[in-house]
Amino acid sequence: MIIAIDGPAASGKGTIAKLVAAHYGLAYLDTGTLYRAVARDTLAMGASPADAGAAVYAAETLDPDTLGDPSLRASGLGEAASQVASHEKVRAVLLAYQRAFARRKPGAVLDGRDIGTVVCPDAQVKLFITAAPEERARRRHRELLSRGERPEYETILVDIRRRDERDMNRSTAPLKAAADAITLDTTHLDADGAFRAALDLVEGRRSQDL
Ligand code: CDP
Repeated sequence: MIIAIDGPAASGKGTIAKLVAAHYGLAYLDTGTLYRAVARDTLAMGASPADAGAAVYAAETLDPDTLGDPSLRASGLGEAASQVASHEKVRAVLLAYQRAFARRKPGAVLDGRDIGTVVCPDAQVKLFITAAPEERARRRHRELLSRGERPEYETILVDIRRRDERDMNRSTAPLKAAADAITLDTTHLDADGAFRAALDLVEGRRSQDL
């Protein structure tokens, strides 16, 4: 079973994906960490994330053992990740790793922006998780405070809107719901409520397939 979970920044897709994977005993991949790691390595070379050649080199030499690095969640890397993610060749390099991961037994849950549309178009279940930008900014603000950062709420809201804009309008694999995805709005749901609502949708889709 492959479950594809897409959506914009801080929509709750990561929390849902992790809990759904644990519930079914499936492997879990947060594909955003791949782009964040490419951004980290591009910056470490002293290059700009806008530099396609440097970002492609970082993608080609990415060490999967570094994907658990907690510093990948730092706020600055989200913007840089979105920039490296707009290079078509960076996406092509990361595609093989994601598809190989999706083939793991007994199945996998992948979350990102283009899982249902590009990475796993044949996924049995596709969810598209959304929430109002103001609520997403509140969540990201709380997450960063708990990591010891001292961000301004307004700055986060501006960053989220700019990233949504870039992710939705890039020419390769833009952020959008697959035609056969089910949309879940988590604006008024807490983490547990979002997980339960997602599980209901997954179960509903699976029972249709039986
Ligand atoms: O956690 P958050 O939603 O802030 O971002 P993320 O999932 O860690 O992804 C960071 C950036 O990577 C996004 O803004 C996208 O530009 C890019 N990304 C992508 O293009 N495709 C994916 N499958 C996952 C992330």
